[in-house]
Amino acid sequence: MDLHGRSFLTLKDYTKEEIYYLLDLAKKLKAKKKAGKIGHSLEGMNIALLFEKTSTRTRCAFEVGVLDEGGHATFLTQSQMGKKESIEDTAKVLGRMFDGIEFRGFKQENVEALAKYSGVPVWNGLTDVDHPTQTLADFLTIQEHLDKPLNEIKFVFTGDIRNNVCYGLMYGACKVGMHFVCLGPKSLEMDPEVVAYCQEECKKSGGSLTITDDTDAVDGADVIYTDIWVSMGEDESLYKPRVELLSPFKVTEELMSKTHNDNTLFMHCLPSYHDFFQKLLASRIAGAMVSHLQKVHIFQHSQFQQFLFCFFPDITCQKTKKLLIFYFNHHAIFIYICARSTDRRSNYLQLQFTCIQAVSFLQGSHWNSGLFCCLFQFFPCSRGIFPLGQIQTSQFY
Ligand code: NVA
Repeated sequence: MDLHGRSFLTLKDYTKEEIYYLLDLAKKLKAKKKAGKIGHSLEGMNIALLFEKTSTRTRCAFEVGVLDEGGHATFLTQSQMGKKESIEDTAKVLGRMFDGIEFRGFKQENVEALAKYSGVPVWNGLTDVDHPTQTLADFLTIQEHLDKPLNEIKFVFTGDIRNNVCYGLMYGACKVGMHFVCLGPKSLEMDPEVVAYCQEECKKSGGSLTITDDTDAVDGADVIYTDIWVSMGEDESLYKPRVELLSPFKVTEELMSKTHNDNTLFMHCLPSYHDFFQKLLASRIAGAMVSHLQKVHIFQHSQFQQFLFCFFPDITCQKTKKLLIFYFNHHAIFIYICARSTDRRSNYLQLQFTCIQAVSFLQGSHWNSGLFCCLFQFFPCSRGIFPLGQIQTSQFY
């Protein structure tokens, strides 16, 4: 199968065979990486990662994926696109410099315009109405964890059933013939065009689509999936009403037991407020993270030191108002905390990310130099005396 030059804007554009082909390719690439083999398929290529919305997993997955295959990724988060420059002009400029563009943003029309005018393949890393790369990753997880073909899977999405992740999963599910259940309040009206499209595709694939507010519909589910209740770009004032509206559809032990299936996989695309509004079961979240995210580590701020100590028992840490300083083997790593954002949670996430980078750096592996990452420096130092030299800073946001 030859998918060269094709954009990946939505799974609606892909056949069942093409979806299976991509899943098999992902398996091969994953096995190759596990075996420590470096890929060369993107050697000499430049890929732009254009982000209007925030991201942790998608951005990292793309960047690491590109680097693992020998390409170079440029992370672009504050472009002129849609501000001083039209999408068409941005697409043309990027298309001349880059061999491919990954886009995360608001409108689906924008990712389509990028594909139309850039002349290079464009991949959708989430829009307001779709998240096809997430769907592929989730299907791969299902294949890896459940001993059933995808067309025999009963998949229940519970919660905000008219969001991008749910629609993306629906497109993929109806193509491969899954039995998909949207479990949520009737007042959250799903897009009739999305529903009609999926129903038509189900007729061809042998799959099914059920939309219900009855939690008994989870009976026999192989997968229970949920997502955050207020998505990026939605107004924060929606938190309270959404919590009230969607609380009956949260994933609890009770809901899980209603599946009458001990092997039901709980999945979440993340991020999630599992310690906050949604109160998802911590153990389930932990389990889901291990199975779903494989090697992605999420740590609480208070656990950073423990995390580093696991890797480097000799490390010591000093914390000042703006600096975290780790001493290790006569070297010091400075992590400068320039907390511009008032959103403590997002600062913590950036800091977690930086610590993970610090560890990879100490281990001698590649570290990301994307613009959004906090820069840190690694200076020689002895007897705990701070080295001279300028500490590089960058912003957390
Ligand atoms: N529905 C969520 C998905 C995040 C990966 C959002 O758009 O914020």
